[in-house]
Amino acid sequence: MVTITVDGLEITVPRRTRLLQACLDNGIYIPNLCYLEGMDQPPASCRLCLVEIEGRPGPVPSCSLEVEAGMVVHTNTDEVQKLQKMAFRLLVCTNEGQCRMCMANKRCELQRIAKFLHMPLRTKRLRHLPKDLPEVIEDHPCIVYEPNKCVLCGRCVYVCAQQGNDFSLSFANRGFNTVISFFGSQNEGQGDACLDCQACVDICPVGALNLKDDRRRHLRKMAAKAKARG
Ligand code: SF4
Ligand code: SF4
Ligand code: FES
Repeated sequence: MVTITVDGLEITVPRRTRLLQACLDNGIYIPNLCYLEGMDQPPASCRLCLVEIEGRPGPVPSCSLEVEAGMVVHTNTDEVQKLQKMAFRLLVCTNEGQCRMCMANKRCELQRIAKFLHMPLRTKRLRHLPKDLPEVIEDHPCIVYEPNKCVLCGRCVYVCAQQGNDFSLSFANRGFNTVISFFGSQNEGQGDACLDCQACVDICPVGALNLKDDRRRHLRKMAAKAKARG
């Protein structure tokens, strides 16, 4: 076991635990999107889980480090908060701000992080940058993907690869037009290998992946509510 200090609190966790996991397991919340427990090599791409560690030059992603005995960690310094807010602004500059209509409303990880950082989901500090992507991509027979909601955290790609399947989800395109691809999922061959396990749907932190049937039901409900409001 290894003992470290986080924000003045001593915690003891098994060797080789990721620092982010150690904090989360001990009730110390650090914003995070691209990490999942069990990852051998977290991508550390969202840059939200930054912390400062005494003796190290600047903030580091806590998902990318394993705990070391005697580590002294600070999760809420001015520098950490400044960088987390910047990372968050970049993530939400494409956000349509339509939370009330979204299937993930009230269980969305972006809403949780916004609350934690005291940030709005539609930011005035950065120009709103809508993506030039379709509202929905329906390549998969039973899953619908909403690319404008996707924060490209990669959780779905990771869990799909864990299913021990030949086929797995992947990223497609580049830069601003990057999306998750179910390429081939309706064709013979690759697509047939999708297990329809829904692991990708369940893990998506922002409701960008949903079952088509669930989404249809949700849209009907929203339409009925709008009609009732007049
Ligand atoms: S349903 Fe399962 S196998 Fe199919 S794309 Fe999603 S995670 Fe992969
Ligand atoms: S679809 Fe969801 S889980 Fe997959 S990358 Fe986008 S936000 Fe992450
Ligand atoms: S959770 Fe650590 S960088 Fe995304």
